[in-house]
Amino acid sequence: MQIRKATGFANSNIAFIKYWGNRDHALRLPVNDSLSMNLDGLHTRTTVAFDPSLTADVVALGGQIQSPESSKRVSDHLDRVRALAGLKTFARVESENNFPTGAGIASSASGFAALTVAAGAAAGLALSERELSILARQGSGSASRSIPSGFVEWKTGSNPDGRDSFAFSVAAPDHWALADCIAIVSSAHKEVGSTGGHALARTSPLQQARIEDAPRRLNLCREALLARDFEKFAEAVEEDSTMMHAIMMTSRPPLYYWLPPTLAVMDAARKWRANGLPACFTIDAGPNVHVLTLAAHASDVASRLRALPGVQNVLVAAPGGGASLINE
Ligand code: DP6
Repeated sequence: MQIRKATGFANSNIAFIKYWGNRDHALRLPVNDSLSMNLDGLHTRTTVAFDPSLTADVVALGGQIQSPESSKRVSDHLDRVRALAGLKTFARVESENNFPTGAGIASSASGFAALTVAAGAAAGLALSERELSILARQGSGSASRSIPSGFVEWKTGSNPDGRDSFAFSVAAPDHWALADCIAIVSSAHKEVGSTGGHALARTSPLQQARIEDAPRRLNLCREALLARDFEKFAEAVEEDSTMMHAIMMTSRPPLYYWLPPTLAVMDAARKWRANGLPACFTIDAGPNVHVLTLAAHASDVASRLRALPGVQNVLVAAPGGGASLINE
């Protein structure tokens, strides 16, 4: 049998309404729906080659061969693809992020989305966008949202097997000229990543209230997004981010991701907005702050961020497209 190879591409994404906690960890079925924007220019490109001469999967990230322990999550994902395709062959996986490694940008969303597209095609599967999203979700929840284009909603669904938990586009990238100015305040590796955090979420006495209120926040945010109403959007986005961090800080054991410069950026974004500049913050499982603004104000916001003490670097991203196959 010959080598079967394909290359996939996917952008990272930033959630406006966050995924935090699973109702099924193994299948990555979230406790609430989420809403995000793909980040143009912050992407992963992954080549998968099923090679009959291999005796194990070989995974290289940014040119570095990974240990069997760190490639386990990738191998587990390849197992899902192999099971669907009835394939037993091991694969060589080469993956590159174009954003600076250690910049504190989550790479699991773009990484597992690109891996899913590449592995599915290399295995000869013809998967729909929905099937790709369902499959990517099992590798990393947020990866389900990097499959469709632009502004994307991911439904938790109700089926225990996860067949109705997938993401779909609610608006194309050109619907709204938003910009995400990412203020990097630390590139240190986090002690507890998202997967560990999801497992702890239910230990917070506040999590139930956050889940119950999630449909209201998501509806508000989607409406604001569709109406391009920045003020309404900003309030929903900041509230949702802060609610997630309240869960993190009240989990047992607690997770504190914020550093002093994180708070300084949050404070600055709120003051700028109060003074008429469209800007709001959202923060994932780490100390870096995504400051969302309108494209027309992106260079102003980025230079204001660079001037704040503790901000090491600022990356700017526009709404991005969905995952795709690359023809070589
Ligand atoms: C805070 O998708 O990284 O960024 O499913 O375990 O890979 P796993 O978790 P992940 O969680 C993302 C959490 C978040 C919020 C979000 O993106 O919705």
